Amino acid sequence: MKKYPVKYELEFLKNSYPGKLIAFEGIDGSGKTTQVNLVVEELKRLGKKVIFTKEPTDREIGKLIRKVLSGEVKIPPIALQYLFSADRTVHQEEIIRFLKEGNLVITDRYFWTGVAYAVADMQDAKADIYLSSFSVLSHYNRFIVPDVTLYLDVKPAEAVNRIKGSNKHNDIYDKKEKLNLIYRSYTDLVNRFADLFTIINGQQTQEKVTEDILNKIISI
Ligand SMILES: Nc1ncnc2c1ncn2[C@@H]1O[C@H](COP(=O)(O)OP(=O)(O)OP(=O)(O)O)[C@@H](O)[C@H]1O
Ligand SMILES: [Mg+2]
Repeated sequence: MKKYPVKYELEFLKNSYPGKLIAFEGIDGSGKTTQVNLVVEELKRLGKKVIFTKEPTDREIGKLIRKVLSGEVKIPPIALQYLFSADRTVHQEEIIRFLKEGNLVITDRYFWTGVAYAVADMQDAKADIYLSSFSVLSHYNRFIVPDVTLYLDVKPAEAVNRIKGSNKHNDIYDKKEKLNLIYRSYTDLVNRFADLFTIINGQQTQEKVTEDILNKIISI
């Protein structure tokens, strides 16, 4: 089969609105939802205009994604990627509205989740994570990259212990092996796109993690 070379440079869409977009990322069980709740509450207490949101969303496409993640609906991994992108396209319209109003928009998972999970799905022992991530990112240039992406760094073994303790282990991605792959993807992305991430040590006490996150958000 003839080869058709395609060359492009990635340029992410910057947030040009008065508000700020802050995303929480990290493997399952890294404490994102716990921290988002604590941080949103504290920022409101400080009188900030804060909007909380998440991905997958609670819209129709987001609901379908949850069914795929729980194993209720089976589709090929690439179809799941398109769903993540479709959900985000809808979500972004809403996010832009909030950013225009000058809000601090805080999202539990966003831009990098889809990349980390897709790359994990593509991985075998020899997969080139760099190429895999770029093939996913090629359709990400229409998404606003967050002003701050907080990556909660928690090792898979610790995350698995937490998930076991939380009665919430029906998610197909909660499997240890899969978590290892997703962790590897995130670590690689965080290193390659270092200027776009703020790494937070998620293995500390909840209070210390909240403190580190608030220090970062308040400084922007
Ligand atoms: N710093 C921490 N130390 C110990 N346990 C924690 C810490 N933060 C959160 N947990 C616990 O770990 C479990 C998973 O946390 P949480 O649901 O916030 O993770 P998550 O990143 O949102 O996971 P998912 O991606 O699956 O939604 C919960 O039971 C939570 O109470
Ligand atoms: Mg969560």
